[in-house]
Amino acid sequence: MQHQIRAVLFDLDGVVVFTDKYHYLGWKKLADEKGWAFDEEVNHGCRGVPRLASLQVILDHNKVDLPQDEKERLADIKNEYYKELLKQINEDDIYPGVVPFLEKLKEEGVRMAICSSSKNAMPVLDALGLAKYFDAVITGNDIENPKPDPEIFLKGAAAVNMHPFHCLVFEDAESGVDAAHAAHMKCIGVGEPQRLPNAHECVTDYAQIDIQALLDAGRVKTIPKEPWNVTETDLKKNRFHYWETAFALSNGVFGVRGTFEESDPGYDEYPATLVNGICGYEPYQHIWKMPGYPEDRHAILNMADWANVDLSVDGETFSIATAKMSSHRRSLDLKRGILEREFVWETTSGKTVLVKTERLVSMVRRQIGALRYAVTAPDGCEVSLRSRTRLVVPSAVMPGEQVRVTKMDESFALQELTTADDRVAVAQAYSLDGDKSCDGTDWLFVCNASGKITLDKFFAVASTMDGDGFEALAQDELEAAREVGFDKLCAEQSAFWAQYWNDGDIEIDGDLQDQQGVRFSLFHLRQGNPERDNRSISANGLTGDGYSGHVFWDTEMYMLPPYIYTQPETVRPLLEYRYSILDKARERAVQMQGKGALFSWNSVKGEECGHVHEASTAEYHLLSDIAYAIELYDRMTGDDKFTLGKGAEILFEMCRFLEDRGCYVDGKGFCLNVVCGPDEYGCGVNNNAYTNVMARAMFNYSVAVYDRVVAAGVVPIVSAEEVAAWKKAADEMFVPYDEKTGLTPQDDSFLDMDPVDMDLIPKNTDIRPMVHPLNLWRMQVVKQADVVLLMYVHGELFTKEQKEKNYLYYEPKTNHGSSLSPCMHSILASELGYKEDAYRFFRQTALMDINDFKNNTGGGVHSACLGGCWMTVVNGFAGMRDYPDGLQFNPVLPEAWTRYSFPIVYKGSRFRVTVTADGADFKLESGEPLQIKVNGEDVRVS
Ligand code: BGC
Repeated sequence: MQHQIRAVLFDLDGVVVFTDKYHYLGWKKLADEKGWAFDEEVNHGCRGVPRLASLQVILDHNKVDLPQDEKERLADIKNEYYKELLKQINEDDIYPGVVPFLEKLKEEGVRMAICSSSKNAMPVLDALGLAKYFDAVITGNDIENPKPDPEIFLKGAAAVNMHPFHCLVFEDAESGVDAAHAAHMKCIGVGEPQRLPNAHECVTDYAQIDIQALLDAGRVKTIPKEPWNVTETDLKKNRFHYWETAFALSNGVFGVRGTFEESDPGYDEYPATLVNGICGYEPYQHIWKMPGYPEDRHAILNMADWANVDLSVDGETFSIATAKMSSHRRSLDLKRGILEREFVWETTSGKTVLVKTERLVSMVRRQIGALRYAVTAPDGCEVSLRSRTRLVVPSAVMPGEQVRVTKMDESFALQELTTADDRVAVAQAYSLDGDKSCDGTDWLFVCNASGKITLDKFFAVASTMDGDGFEALAQDELEAAREVGFDKLCAEQSAFWAQYWNDGDIEIDGDLQDQQGVRFSLFHLRQGNPERDNRSISANGLTGDGYSGHVFWDTEMYMLPPYIYTQPETVRPLLEYRYSILDKARERAVQMQGKGALFSWNSVKGEECGHVHEASTAEYHLLSDIAYAIELYDRMTGDDKFTLGKGAEILFEMCRFLEDRGCYVDGKGFCLNVVCGPDEYGCGVNNNAYTNVMARAMFNYSVAVYDRVVAAGVVPIVSAEEVAAWKKAADEMFVPYDEKTGLTPQDDSFLDMDPVDMDLIPKNTDIRPMVHPLNLWRMQVVKQADVVLLMYVHGELFTKEQKEKNYLYYEPKTNHGSSLSPCMHSILASELGYKEDAYRFFRQTALMDINDFKNNTGGGVHSACLGGCWMTVVNGFAGMRDYPDGLQFNPVLPEAWTRYSFPIVYKGSRFRVTVTADGADFKLESGEPLQIKVNGEDVRVS
């Protein structure tokens, strides 16, 4: 079974059965005999607590002190009473709805266990005929440490032979919830959320549970399925960080997380306005510093938190934590790129207040964000709106003092913040009719309600990343935005997104959740692209700082392909970004005692930040990935100015580095030793197949670019001898192949590594924190698509039989520890006709963030996976391949769908692909007719 949740561990009392009343009656009998006070309230303290501890609760309540042996004697007596009382247990004592729920889980093949501190769990289950549902029963007799110690759940997981990562706990007591957390398991509280604040989610009725949502991501239900919206209907404290990411708005230049407008110190919110490229530094404390080790850790910083408005009505301040609300709803409108919110607040003095907010981060004016806060309160109420802009906001990933306020104008309209490298200007303006005053850092608006009161807040940010005139830029842009007004900004935003959906949407009929997941992915993918020459897209875009704002190969290999085939004009700046940090890459090559340029594996401004050098710096494939992106751009756009200029310079410097890194080995040829491929569980491997094939392609392409540069009469920065060396390296590149099995070995040693029982390895999570590196490096377990990725990216080099062999060999050894993995498996599975795998991996990709599949979306969206999502449909189901002999498609229709359709831009021609059960349709929408292949046949698209 491939679900994220594969075993469910239940507490017994209050979760599956109610033995509470028998415990109560047992204690009551004892207490009455002893003349102690005991009632429901005292009993509450005894719930979920072992026997002796329960007795202590009663003794404390009665201020009675007893020696230990007497306590034990009395606890045993109570137990005898309890056992006697249990004889009365009957079906009415089973938790309503739990039996159908257990049956559904059984049908899905989920393993189940009871993990109850009660020593009488087994007789209870037997008496009620429930024992048959459970593969294991762990009771108080089996453990030494009671909850909140994780022992009982860890034993439960072991008894059902499941890794804790794939277990989900149902608990009704706080100590049990804490025990589940301590066992690193997800936990659903059975009871009211106020009573179980630490549970991920709570239920009171098992019938509410959507089994697929539960098994997919350990949640009670999925969010409402809608074609163009993503909506939060329930306020769940433990889901705030998820929604902050899901509702994060960005334009690639800056982004703001979807926190509520009103402040509430009691709430664990993570507000962040992240400005692309603005980062802080902190020295690494290496225990033993080696040459080439990175000096500093760097991380994107939180800048001014501007999207705040506090509301008071007649002196009562609204608090999201405590306010009485008859409704609360937030919805991201993907069609227009606007976040909307609406709630009705019943104040303690009985006023009904309607609040509507709208927020946008403008894709048209990349310096601008705006929000509207509209209040409808009964006539005559005094409404005050306090707009806060917190200039210095702590960053979770770099909490030190990294940001200083260096300028503040009198009216508080323009401020300047300074970081280690940059200066950032933030400016704000308002529009509202009413009295206003400014008290230092906040603006206060006080109005008397007569109808609707609307506050529009405009925010501008610009930094030294935007050039010298950044302060004026912030001010001018702010002024312009204020002048056009909020409604016009919304209209512009809608027009921008309408254009994007025209150019890049994937329409899916047949499964609304798939449609929603795909659009949500495309939305976040598009809004991450800054389209500025000195900035790229980090692994989380600007939706969170989980990856500290670092840029990886994710951009070139996973995000850039969807952009190039939908809106190619957005791609050049991403390549310009690499050029802007080429000097840093040159410095890095020197630090690594190499030639040319080595781009840093993870970085904001070019300096290497990855301290796990074996799975960062060693991923030299990044260079060929950048080359792959340049080649793709070159082929699709024919932009010689870039390719033969900056592109060529980047390529030549990267070739210099990689050619120098390699060596010739007798019987093999040109080898790249001690590298790390995409599979980061390996270390210092020789001849990673992906790395070598990609390097060969880079050398060959660079040689061709060199010839074009010379033909154009430009003096290249490299000599003919150097270029000849790249040609030789390409011609003699060693690509591992195992004659015996017909497999492409991932590297020289992978096939000889220790085989692993994959049932013991958790899936969909990075296992590096769980296994000592010396053990991991020996294991035949793959983190993410590596050979499988190669079979897609350079599919033209492999036969179908080879692809089959490799897929069937590597997929079962892959734990998909990275979100970059399922998409590539879906694509290859589609090609090979493995329909179930193709669809399952597609769903994991498309629902990765919207379903919070890995439980870490709170840290930001998985940007590479967003691009991977586009690829699973276009390159996967539709089978699009852009091979040297031309563009081809091999479309299939997933069983769950009746139709899908998307546009493609290819070398200036735009056409639409539509796939239904009747076949595929290709329709030219603009540009020159195209010659393509569909299922191997020549087709003219006209
Ligand atoms: C993956 C890398 C990826 C990085 C950032 C890691 O877990 O293994 O391939 O570049 O995440 O997304």
